[in-house]
Amino acid sequence: MTSYRIAVVGGTGPQGKGLAYRFAQAGHTVVLGSRSAERARRTAAEIARRAGDAVPVGGADNATAAASADVVLLAVPYDGHAALVESLRTPLTGKVVLSCVNPLGFDRHGPYGREVADGSAAEEAQRIVPGARLAGAFHHLSATSLWNEAGLLAHEDVLVCGDDAEAKAVAVELARTVTGRAGVDAGALRLARQLEPLTAVLIGVNKRYKVRSGIRVAGLGPGG
Ligand SMILES: NC(=O)c1ccc[n+]([C@@H]2O[C@H](COP(=O)([O-])OP(=O)(O)OC[C@H]3O[C@@H](n4cnc5c(N)ncnc54)[C@H](OP(=O)(O)O)[C@@H]3O)[C@@H](O)[C@H]2O)c1
Repeated sequence: MTSYRIAVVGGTGPQGKGLAYRFAQAGHTVVLGSRSAERARRTAAEIARRAGDAVPVGGADNATAAASADVVLLAVPYDGHAALVESLRTPLTGKVVLSCVNPLGFDRHGPYGREVADGSAAEEAQRIVPGARLAGAFHHLSATSLWNEAGLLAHEDVLVCGDDAEAKAVAVELARTVTGRAGVDAGALRLARQLEPLTAVLIGVNKRYKVRSGIRVAGLGPGG
């Protein structure tokens, strides 16, 4: 397994923290990013306590974290996403950048996928930083499951989309840290337009059935 140094931008939130925990447990070096380096260090200490002190997790401000990493995961809310990505243009250029950002809205009918001028949050990040090597992944995993469940989430798949072969391969590989299996190549980056709002469906199912639902792709063949 290739060992990466992974920055998790927005790593103090539940989704970034949960994925950081899984990456670190699998032996990757993780640096959490935050608008507050102090907050990032506190969350990093929480992950180290949960995963065992040998786990390599640190914390820094978002730009320092991103600059220090080979792979950057964007795990921030869609509101403020464009401004944040703009502020990280230099450290993201040339890097593999993974996005699990879901532009969702909530109204009296429940959750829904918001209109995004670029098509999706992942494409928005790609437009803002053309030199970044984008892939979308990890949109459908529950932060609660990532943090609270002891073992692999073997009943779920990670769907990955992207136009950059290396970025997609990194995301497909990192999916193993969560599910124990390679991620599923779902196609081009523009398919983030379908993957991101699909999370609204899962949140609606969770509410109606009182569960934490996820995605599993059938028919991939043995080991799939
Ligand atoms: N929660 C889930 O179960 C889940 C599941 C799948 C996908 N996602 C997606 O993953 C992303 C993160 O989810 P989350 O629930 O962890 O979100 P969150 O808690 O709302 O935000 C994550 C972190 O982003 C930073 N942040 C908040 N507003 C910001 C802004 N305007 N500019 C820059 N940074 C900001 C905050 O860190 P600092 O204040 O420390 O900077 C915060 O701790 C979202 O796009 C969400 O749709 C979430």
